[in-house]
Amino acid sequence: MTQGTPPLVYITGASSGIGQALALRFHQAGWRLALVARRAPEIEQWAREHALAPDRVAVYAADVRSVPSITGAGRACIAAQGLPDAVIACAGISVGVDTADAADLEVIRATYETNNLGMAATFQPFVGPMCQRRSGRLVGIASVSGIRGLPGHGAYCASKAATISYCESLRVECRSQGVKVVTISPGYVDTPLTRGNRYRMPFMMSAKDFADQAFRAIEAGASYRVIPWQMAVVAKLLRALPNVVFDRVMAGRGRKRRQHE
Ligand SMILES: NC(=O)c1ccc[n+]([C@@H]2O[C@H](COP(=O)([O-])OP(=O)(O)OC[C@H]3O[C@@H](n4cnc5c(N)ncnc54)[C@H](OP(=O)(O)O)[C@@H]3O)[C@@H](O)[C@H]2O)c1
Repeated sequence: MTQGTPPLVYITGASSGIGQALALRFHQAGWRLALVARRAPEIEQWAREHALAPDRVAVYAADVRSVPSITGAGRACIAAQGLPDAVIACAGISVGVDTADAADLEVIRATYETNNLGMAATFQPFVGPMCQRRSGRLVGIASVSGIRGLPGHGAYCASKAATISYCESLRVECRSQGVKVVTISPGYVDTPLTRGNRYRMPFMMSAKDFADQAFRAIEAGASYRVIPWQMAVVAKLLRALPNVVFDRVMAGRGRKRRQHE
């Protein structure tokens, strides 16, 4: 970071929900923003509506499922705004699946490509330069759903379990080079992704409250944080539950909506 220049955060998934709330929180703290999603015009309109300082915001249209698209956005950000101080891989999808239905195999592919390959490709352009600079934060947005496999939600749960392990590997790899990898597992946050869920969502929080807590965890360089803390307790209990109990409790749970439901 140049002396006097505000720090820069690069956020994917910035056209909606958690990504948008994080963008607002970092902007309020004086950071410059590099905002990424496929729906770039929506970000631009939202930035105008929220009176974000135009000289502190740049928008990049990219699809995280396409490696050239998202790595190109990363390189464009470095060229135009410099190397970010924090990169938040927040873009994600959550769709129910039924493995008996062949059509859902494409949903499973889309989930892994978006939530897993998309995250690695988001980080890729920044890892080398950050390690060379010996500073930076790489933030992966995981989920409490990555702790156990929930019925009807196999692709998403598997993708978020992979996110947690992937970020852990990266954290250890980057440890000696001054770059911190922060894994954040949200519980239930009120965004378009959770609206319409057909099951109880305990400790649901607003995207704004989530962003406040996530901002502090990122600033602190926490290695792993569940938000809200109550869901960390739930996650620990879920992890400890023997299969025989877990299976019985989960069997009757409502299922995540599938693509055409
Ligand atoms: N809400 C929750 O309760 C909750 C809980 C746990 C974890 N999470 C995680 O938090 C993250 C954000 O979720 P959210 O609740 O904010 O969901 P959301 O409101 O549906 O927003 C999803 C964001 O991801 C972007 N995105 C999806 N596919 C993309 C693609 N192929 N290329 C580029 N961007 C893409 C979307 O942008 P475009 O469509 O414009 O591209 C959008 O900005 C996700 O990783 C999700 O799994 C959420």
